[in-house]
Amino acid sequence: MRTLITRIAELTTNVALDGDPCGTLVDAAVLIEDGRLAWVGAASDAPAADETVDAGGRAMIPGFVDSHSHLAFAGDRAAEFEARMAGQKYAAGGIRSTVAATRAAGDDELRARLRGFLDEMLAQGTTTVEIKSGYGLSVADEERLVRLAAEVTPEVTFLGAHVVPTEYADRPDAYVDLVTGPMLDACAPYAKWIDVFCETGAFTVAQSRRVLEAGAARGLTPRVHASQLGPGEGVRLAVELGAASIDHGTYLTDDDIGALARSSTVLTLLPGVEFSTRQPYPDARRLIDAGVTVALACDTNPGSSFTSSMPFCIAIAVRDMGMTPAEAVWASTAGGARALRRDDVGIIAPGARADLVLLEAPTRVHLAYRPGVPLVRQVWKDGVAAG
Ligand code: NIG
Ligand code: FE
Repeated sequence: MRTLITRIAELTTNVALDGDPCGTLVDAAVLIEDGRLAWVGAASDAPAADETVDAGGRAMIPGFVDSHSHLAFAGDRAAEFEARMAGQKYAAGGIRSTVAATRAAGDDELRARLRGFLDEMLAQGTTTVEIKSGYGLSVADEERLVRLAAEVTPEVTFLGAHVVPTEYADRPDAYVDLVTGPMLDACAPYAKWIDVFCETGAFTVAQSRRVLEAGAARGLTPRVHASQLGPGEGVRLAVELGAASIDHGTYLTDDDIGALARSSTVLTLLPGVEFSTRQPYPDARRLIDAGVTVALACDTNPGSSFTSSMPFCIAIAVRDMGMTPAEAVWASTAGGARALRRDDVGIIAPGARADLVLLEAPTRVHLAYRPGVPLVRQVWKDGVAAG
């Protein structure tokens, strides 16, 4: 079956064209065959197809690639959010209350939760999602979370080193022994990535190095949570170890920015976190101008960022972080793909997955221009129309 989508007013391909990283085509069409894109070009040159969909002069972008989420958990922390909006500070320790709720939940409850979040994300245009463990923090519970995550995405991250659990409070190094030993053994078969929260209140640089190196020795590629609550050495550790991405980067030093710009490590900014914790937004303009590759992701989790909306993150990135609408759309599609080292998503090109979002708008600019408005009209994942 060959499906042609035609009369696309503005097509963001992310295949660089004449100095435009978004590779924007006007009055375009795309051809889907067997879940992949078979042809992309001017509507006037479109090949024959079995069925034709009229995009009606709307804009189309690649499906969002949300490269950072913590969807495997139970409960919520609405009361903590409410207290924060009344002036309380965000601290890493809040993670432990979600650990208790998650340990108490059954597999089917967690599975239903995961599917619910993925449906919610798909409806908002997200077609690729990375999911981290990190609310189990025992061998059996972490194994359970990566196993359940692997049922719904190939992008699974083992984050046993999210925070030191209560039962190891006085013995953090013993917990790192557990993470790098039996827990890694149990989780590695389900995961592609190894992550650590390198921050005051979570893990030190030395502990983070142990975790990342142990994961890498088991074939998992590092990604790092760092510089979320204050400056630290996590960014430089990530770059040194060739991490795919360092995530948060709310408090970066000039040295961090220089190191990132010279590296292949992507910086994944998470505007939902600054929004929900009332922290200052990072200056994405400065980072991009320095030559850093920036991705945007939601960091969906019950503590620091309970949004699953990439359009919401795009709107903040444009309004408060100095990104242009084109940069923000690139960062949430092609940027996310870079952070996950994927070349089959985040672009609209022959051979790529047919993961497409048709907007109820003539241009991608509306994603920031019309914040909070549900602009996703139709989503295709692997060539199949959702909904
Ligand atoms: O990415 N920073 C660490 N982990 C999550 C927050 C988790 C939580 O508060 O439950 C994050 O922000
Ligand atoms: Fe996170």
